Amino acid sequence: MADALQRYLERTPASRRLHEQAREVMPGGDTRSSAWWAPYPIFVDRGEGCRIWDVDGNVYLDFLNNYTSLVLGHAHPAVLEAVGRELPRGTAYAAPLAAQVELAAMLVRRVPSVERVRFCNSGTEATLYALRAARAFTGRQRFIKVEGGFHGTHDAVEVSVAPPVDAAGPADAPVPVPASAGLPRHVADDVIVVPFGDVAAVERAFARHPGEIAALILEPLPGGFGYIVPPSGYLAGVRDAVRRGGALLIFDEVQTLRLSRGGAQEYYRVMPDLTAMGKIIGGGFPVGAFGGRRDVMDLFDPTRPGALHHSGTFNGNRATMAAGAAVLRVLDQAQIDRLNGLGDRLRAGLREAVHDAGVTAQITGAGSFASVLLTDRPVTGYRARAAVPAALQSRLHLHLLNRGIHLMPRGSLSLCTPMGDAEIEACAVAVGDALREMRPEIEQIAPRLLAG
Ligand SMILES: Cc1ncc(COP(=O)(O)O)c(C=O)c1O
Repeated sequence: MADALQRYLERTPASRRLHEQAREVMPGGDTRSSAWWAPYPIFVDRGEGCRIWDVDGNVYLDFLNNYTSLVLGHAHPAVLEAVGRELPRGTAYAAPLAAQVELAAMLVRRVPSVERVRFCNSGTEATLYALRAARAFTGRQRFIKVEGGFHGTHDAVEVSVAPPVDAAGPADAPVPVPASAGLPRHVADDVIVVPFGDVAAVERAFARHPGEIAALILEPLPGGFGYIVPPSGYLAGVRDAVRRGGALLIFDEVQTLRLSRGGAQEYYRVMPDLTAMGKIIGGGFPVGAFGGRRDVMDLFDPTRPGALHHSGTFNGNRATMAAGAAVLRVLDQAQIDRLNGLGDRLRAGLREAVHDAGVTAQITGAGSFASVLLTDRPVTGYRARAAVPAALQSRLHLHLLNRGIHLMPRGSLSLCTPMGDAEIEACAVAVGDALREMRPEIEQIAPRLLAG
């Protein structure tokens, strides 16, 4: 490990200097917890296609893609052209734009359950408003979420995101655990937490709280614990249980919209009532959107008495709308099929690389998402993911950075359209080489992962 750290320090002196300056003005030198890692993150100078360059001139294949949002990669010509054309006309005016109608119409055409849509500035706002709409529509307070599910950072969803397992109750009936200090005292009281993949747990929740549950929110392919494929029949089972319980089903498709033209709901053929969106639909600019059934979304219709208020100074701003529409024009089903095929080859290549390195690990994911999880236990939900040694995952991350692979510190990756077989191959080779070099560290921390 000392070697990998030493190499990282030697390769990144300019990042280190900037980090030291940053510490003088931002706590820990950081303004986004998920983009920080020890000893300090690389500072990026520029990105183009599927590569980024740090301020020291090191080049990385970008398998992070701003947490899956840059599905066309960096500085895509179609996005630059669209934004460049629009920006000279100003950016935001507190007035509706034709560009909003265009992007909204694209989403309504693409995403099967979305009949009406509203824009906001982040995925966090998208889940906040989807939950608020569900509460207003049903007149109920409580909601169900999946243990380990991440839905942004507003108070209501900051519950049981990555709870310490010894404080989280039984695996089949988890207790809600506030995810941060500083939350309202009773934030967990309205949240019922269920394990991923377990329809019976959802049914039990409705039986225990009849007439009280407004919604169930989940990511169809949960990213927080490794892009875990839903067991066969799970999403449909949840759909039925939520309908029978008189609540609304919210799919958080902030990440999964890239799985097909119509997102995970089309990919898995299960229709939610409401959908939270973000990331790819902003073309690299701040974005969120929530949409769904017309009768629910009409709660926001300002011509209605008692309409729900939904504001935001930069909602539907020109740059975001233009960039988002440019991405969706390029990202047709053929592009997505190609990307998902690359994803299949990446996961196969990673499995082979891990095997050849003599290490036991789980390769999870679907479509253009993948994770390398250093554990011998199949990861089917949050509890198994929580058992993965965090120290090993961070070391793998550092080893891969040293090999020019940029990915999530937690071992997850996503693809972008400028990638092809050469990049997939480079990633698998880097993972194999990193694991071979890590054998002494694995021996120390989790010796059972070493075969033979
Ligand atoms: C599934 C999911 N929901 C919500 C969010 C929050 O989105 P944002 O960071 O735009 O607020 C994220 C962000 O990573 C996410 O992955």
